Amino acid sequence: MEPKKTVRVGRLGMGELLKRYLGPYKTRAAIGVAAKSVEVVFDLFTPLVVARMIDVGVAGHDVGAVVRYGAILMALALVGYGFTLICQKLASAVSQGMGTDIRQALFTKVNELSAAELDQLGTASLVTRITSDVNQLQVAVALAIRQGIRWPFLALGSMIAAMLIDARLGLVFVVCTPAIGAVFWAVMSRSVPLFRQIQGNLDALTRVTSENLSGARVIRAFGREDSEEARFTIFARQQTEGSIMVGLLSAFLNPSTFLILNLGVVAILWSGALRVDAGGLTQGEVVAFVNYMTQTLLAIVYVANLVVTFTRGAASGQRIMDVLRVIPQVQDAPEGTPSITLEKSSSIPPLTLNQVSFAYPESSQDALHNVSLTLNQGMRLGVIGGTGSGKSTLASLLVRLYDPHEGTIQLLGHDLREYPLDQLRSLVSIVPQKASLVTGTIRSNLQWRDAQASDDELWEALERAQAAGFVREKPLGLDGLVEAGGKNFSGGQRQRLTIARALVGHPALLVLDDSASALDMATDAKLRSALAEMSDVTTVTISQRITSIMNCDLILVLYHGKLAGLGTHDELLRTCELYREIASSQLMREEVAA
Ligand SMILES: Nc1ncnc2c1ncn2[C@@H]1O[C@H](COP(=O)(O)OP(=O)(O)OP(=O)(O)O)[C@@H](O)[C@H]1O
Ligand SMILES: [Mg+2]
Repeated sequence: MEPKKTVRVGRLGMGELLKRYLGPYKTRAAIGVAAKSVEVVFDLFTPLVVARMIDVGVAGHDVGAVVRYGAILMALALVGYGFTLICQKLASAVSQGMGTDIRQALFTKVNELSAAELDQLGTASLVTRITSDVNQLQVAVALAIRQGIRWPFLALGSMIAAMLIDARLGLVFVVCTPAIGAVFWAVMSRSVPLFRQIQGNLDALTRVTSENLSGARVIRAFGREDSEEARFTIFARQQTEGSIMVGLLSAFLNPSTFLILNLGVVAILWSGALRVDAGGLTQGEVVAFVNYMTQTLLAIVYVANLVVTFTRGAASGQRIMDVLRVIPQVQDAPEGTPSITLEKSSSIPPLTLNQVSFAYPESSQDALHNVSLTLNQGMRLGVIGGTGSGKSTLASLLVRLYDPHEGTIQLLGHDLREYPLDQLRSLVSIVPQKASLVTGTIRSNLQWRDAQASDDELWEALERAQAAGFVREKPLGLDGLVEAGGKNFSGGQRQRLTIARALVGHPALLVLDDSASALDMATDAKLRSALAEMSDVTTVTISQRITSIMNCDLILVLYHGKLAGLGTHDELLRTCELYREIASSQLMREEVAA
């Protein structure tokens, strides 16, 4: 089961997509289309009734007949209107329902994806897919129900009617229809790639905007507004150019199709006039023919516009499918796999890494290369190394955000991949390098790992994380509000809250990724001794600060993803050149500071 470096995809076509998400609505969609067909039939009947009204009523000076036919017309209009309403309502219900389901599916999928796929798809692109692309698809489906039947039906109906009047004049159709088709083909074949490009550009715009908004303070502090604006302008201009190009192409459509249409009318009048002179046709028939011909060709123009919307919808559908069919690299154990019963034996090492290697997607170099270690019962692991040396990568592997490409990681005697993800997530707890909190209360943020955790438990975790003090000072205590990203807390407070969150639910393995970087030395020391009291929790402490890890029972020194040293502080001082360098530079500096 070797995971590949690039995103793996399953098979999912447009037909399958529609079947899956339109399927539940097919009855309503069918009724909508049927209601529309009734309206179209009424539309086709109306001219006949008008004709009767004129022939029988007006020509025969029969007021009663005029009123009768007028009433029929009124009834046709009312009933037609009723059916239109039904169709509109169903079209909205179906397209909105389908859109909501697809959004839900995309959201669920995004939550299943492992970090590798999220890296590759990109946040901004996922946002536009869930919003704008689903929207395009909804528009296409609603239009299909409302107009998909009307125009082809009218085109066909009028064409047949015209042919019935005179088949020889019908030759004009044989010339005009393909000519209009050719114009459309020319325009469409250029527009379709543009639609995809426009949606892709929207991704870039979303990305730049959201980066800009979330980094607004930094950008201002560094005076980078101009360059950010330049970046935005480039994508905005591309977007404008793409949209104008599409606009130009479709603007070309109407004049050219009308030109063809009118040339057709001229041809009919020309040859029709000759035939009328020869007595083969009546004037009325020529006029009727022209009307039908205009109706047909107009309907064809509408059909073509439908095609444009459908193509746009298809381009968006494609982008939706590109997400839905991704097979997450980190696979959960099959549904229903029971949790592993863990033996309580001191001979089983809590954590073992066996020749672990990992590379990020599309990176030629391993971010972690051939790392092995065994952590025995009751031991604490410290990890140190320069920036970019692979420390956070190791943390991600321990919580299975990614799977190693080679080698294995064992927790309490079992490969991480054997655990159902739920069990693994409750056994292993991480405090990520970037402290992140979500909108809610302090309580709701702390209960992430265990929604049932009692207040006592939360306070115990806060105490241990050295966070109880400032939470207690809040007027609302645990019910104190947390704003988006936890921005109403200081960096150090956020870090301590995320540590407390990781402690709730009593993990077996606790991974702290540079989690005390914003704490002062004294608080950091108190935190470390409070964590050390939990004898049954195996901790992995990652830090750039030697004081944070020098008392660990085992220290891993990483250098460019490779193991540069493994041992205790004293051992490493003797054997590991790199560790000695880090120690001498940092310890000296602190002594100077003291
Ligand atoms: N999501 C990612 N996609 C691609 N490459 C990544 C990703 N995350 C990290 N890397 C690369 O992997 C290498 C190791 O990164 P890692 O985050 O593990 O370093 P680190 O030791 O935690 O550094 P720091 O001390 O700065 O946190 C770096 O070269 C980095 O550029
Ligand atoms: Mg890191």
